[in-house]
Amino acid sequence: MSNQKVSVLDIRQSKKDGRKLVMMTAYDYPFGLLADEAGVDIVLIGDSLGMVVMGLEGTVEVTMEHMIHHTRAVVRGCKNPLIIGDMPFMSYNISIQEAIRNAGRMMKEGGCDAIKLEGGVDFAPTVGAIVTAGIPVQGHIGLTPQTASALGGFKMQGRDAQAARQIIADARALEKAGVFSMILEAVPAPLGKLVADAVSVPVIGIGAGPDVDGQVLVTHDMIGLFDRFVPKFVKQYANIRPIILDALLAYKNEVLEVKFPAAEHSFKMPEEALKQLEKEID
Ligand code: KIV
Repeated sequence: MSNQKVSVLDIRQSKKDGRKLVMMTAYDYPFGLLADEAGVDIVLIGDSLGMVVMGLEGTVEVTMEHMIHHTRAVVRGCKNPLIIGDMPFMSYNISIQEAIRNAGRMMKEGGCDAIKLEGGVDFAPTVGAIVTAGIPVQGHIGLTPQTASALGGFKMQGRDAQAARQIIADARALEKAGVFSMILEAVPAPLGKLVADAVSVPVIGIGAGPDVDGQVLVTHDMIGLFDRFVPKFVKQYANIRPIILDALLAYKNEVLEVKFPAAEHSFKMPEEALKQLEKEID
């Protein structure tokens, strides 16, 4: 997009203009800066940080405090992209009041521009209430990682006609509730197109094929920093883990062999002062 701050109106407009949206995740200040420099449209502080940053098995243990902490760090580095804070499991599921309160915290304390939450038809009233409170909401349907165990694991969704119909109904319910865009995760590519055609707001795919309105990937997956589990829909644009590991091994070896620090990494001391000190110590 341009080198101006991206708004939710720009995101809505992109679909009318037929321009694909580029979205990525970030969890800290250095990646906030990089996302800004790359000029992506949207940066998500995803609760995927539970896995790729915190080493958890899934996203269920991620809390509001974790999300706010990481969102603040990204916001400090990332000026132009629209910044979305992901609502963690159980921060919006118990009551609509609590959902509005937590969405407000994410904006006020995290400093993001919008929030994202998972769920379709069942969560449309919650989405509607948060939007009415003045908070822009991005939906997330198809594979919803927070409830993956209820869906039978991290599996493709919308396999048969009935399941696909439900996903289209979810998309329509979210559109009606006022989302400015939605994520569609892990569905067959033809269903991705059907969903994108069924609603007027941008549908951003992750494992939903090419015929949606934009793409998102978990950054640590696409740069090869997290390789414990790589979903089929991830393309690795770089493989930086071995590069980092090589640097760490070289550092370790040079410290052990007293090759680091060399003269250029060491501070000098005036000759006179050194002589004086050496005399005193003797
Ligand atoms: O948490 C996350 O990173 C996400 C993306 C997969 C969209 O929800």
